[in-house]
Amino acid sequence: MQYRISPSILSADLNHLGEAVRTCEEAGADAIHIDVMDGIYVPNITFGPNIVAACRKITTLPLDVHLMIVEPERHIPEFAAKGADIITVHYETCPHIHRTLQQIKQLGAKAGVSFNPGTSIEPLSLLADDLDLVLIMSVNPGFGGQKFIPVALEKLRRARQILDLAESEAHLQVDGGIDASTIYPAFEAGARNFVAGSFVFNHPKRIAGGIQDLKDALGAQKSA
Ligand code: DX5
Ligand code: ZN
Repeated sequence: MQYRISPSILSADLNHLGEAVRTCEEAGADAIHIDVMDGIYVPNITFGPNIVAACRKITTLPLDVHLMIVEPERHIPEFAAKGADIITVHYETCPHIHRTLQQIKQLGAKAGVSFNPGTSIEPLSLLADDLDLVLIMSVNPGFGGQKFIPVALEKLRRARQILDLAESEAHLQVDGGIDASTIYPAFEAGARNFVAGSFVFNHPKRIAGGIQDLKDALGAQKSA
């Protein structure tokens, strides 16, 4: 069963960020998800390009940078220069989405597009050929620790159909409220790349225990 776990450092202990990233790598994470928020597109403010550079120094895992910012095209070059492997922009912030996706690719990164819970994913059929990753938000972006919104399952199913029809190899990622109970329904709906923040970093058995629990939740269902 092919899938990827991408811990979001939004919920990491920032006093020990390096150690947290290294622990994720040792515990079998497949990427590090970095949530960039500007206080305008979303209410919260988080990380900038320097955090990407800091992560780049201590891990060889892909850095999956989720831009929740207005006018992302102004900042994409710096995120790419600091070592982002995947740059995901929000469909809602990009009036010229094809141009933005091309910009990301020309800088040598993989291009992703994200859709909020209230945004239709039908435009995906127009974008599938230009995408390396599709992110279906299962919470409204801005904060960690929110509850999974079930409409995401329906959208994942539709996104999977659109990608299959286009013969696209793009990763289908889900982000928000992923834990041991929501990960399998999301897998069943077609997601193969799972972002998890609070579940991993606030887990009673710490980071490795959180990642293992997610993997077990997928594995147990598979063999059931
Ligand atoms: C939300 C972010 C998420 C967040 C997920 O706006 O995009 O990546 O870190 O956190 P959890 O897993 O706690 O919902
Ligand atoms: Zn995110």
